[in-house]
Amino acid sequence: MTNPAPALMHPFSEPGKSESDFINIVSAEGSTLYDDTGKRYLDGMASLWYCQVGHGRREIIDAITTQLNQLEVYNIFDPFTNGPARDVAELIASKSPHPNGRVFLGCSGSEAVDTALKLARTIQQRRGNAGKQIIVRRTLGYHGTNVGGTSVQGIAPNREGWGDLLPNVLEVPSDNIEEAAKLFAEHGENIAAVISEPVQGAGGVIPPEDGYLQGLRKLCDQHGALLIFDEVICGFGRTGSWFASQTFGVTPDLMTFAKGVTSGYQPLSGVIISKELGEELSEPGVLLRTGYTYSGHPAACAAGVANINLIESDGLVERANHIGKKTVEGFDALRADGVIKDYRGVGGIWSADIGRDTAHVKNDMLAKGVFVRGVGDSICWCPPLVVTDDEIGQFIEVLQETLQESE
Ligand SMILES: Cc1ncc(COP(=O)(O)O)c(C=O)c1O
Repeated sequence: MTNPAPALMHPFSEPGKSESDFINIVSAEGSTLYDDTGKRYLDGMASLWYCQVGHGRREIIDAITTQLNQLEVYNIFDPFTNGPARDVAELIASKSPHPNGRVFLGCSGSEAVDTALKLARTIQQRRGNAGKQIIVRRTLGYHGTNVGGTSVQGIAPNREGWGDLLPNVLEVPSDNIEEAAKLFAEHGENIAAVISEPVQGAGGVIPPEDGYLQGLRKLCDQHGALLIFDEVICGFGRTGSWFASQTFGVTPDLMTFAKGVTSGYQPLSGVIISKELGEELSEPGVLLRTGYTYSGHPAACAAGVANINLIESDGLVERANHIGKKTVEGFDALRADGVIKDYRGVGGIWSADIGRDTAHVKNDMLAKGVFVRGVGDSICWCPPLVVTDDEIGQFIEVLQETLQESE
């Protein structure tokens, strides 16, 4: 008899891949990971774009432990609430462009996205716009893997093979505001909302062209549509401001967050809505029939509070801009030497266009102890915001060496 397959199925993987071929990470500190053979790696992706404060921070671990000892969990469906959920919501709103807005909590980015889509649609329904059902997505946008997020993501292979997805979704190219204007001219009266990452992350780190996000804002205003920014990667300092809406000076009606809100120490996500939308939903007779068992989980919320305080006390929002400066210095030199074709990014999120497929390059870099992601021709770099200048230098050096060896 052959050995039965191991129970664990990995996300975004071939289920047939042998468990022994995965790298078993057993500990981590700062921007360094260790596997079960003792090999060290530079975490050039902050795990999956989320570990802003670096690994092993006692301040967050202690806050979670203290909370678990006080009250391990209780739900916040009506009639219950808890202190950490209230505190984290206040703190998140205060850092956002909607300081007087409202914050709805979930556990994952996908939950936040699906909730934002539902909230946008329900607001249109409540306004009497029953026909406004269309959600506009951007090519290469990534919005998670629940059915809503799968339907509105612009990375086509991720939408394929699951059967029918949500109807009433239209796509615009990721960088062409004229095309978006054409779509609005044709369908504007039926568009409920546009969903967009300010900087597209999983699509390969694609910052918006000048004026693009402003253009989306204007089109939404002209046609009574809502603008949703998916800040699951961009939020909590990644782009050099607390939120990318602030970096690019465009305020959406709804914004999703996850990842950096706890630096991943606990699963926490949510949707921030504007004061105006909050008031609309607070009218008498509205009952919000949506939410998750673990919305407002006290341990996750305590992790969020401790993490946001750490981002503040360590000055990590400003630090993202320093990372950007150092990364650009390195990339400029590589581009001048013809080692990379070009680069893109902002703050602490970057990608180098190497002019050829990255699959082997990223594997070779991993073998040399630097973990990065490859998307098409782009090597993505999104380190913890505590990454040191030496570590940035190590990344640039290993990228250069690997590209020169494999020319
Ligand atoms: C922009 C964006 N939205 C949503 C998600 C989904 O988040 P999660 O994997 O926590 O469901 C991700 C995950 O990478 C993301 O990058």
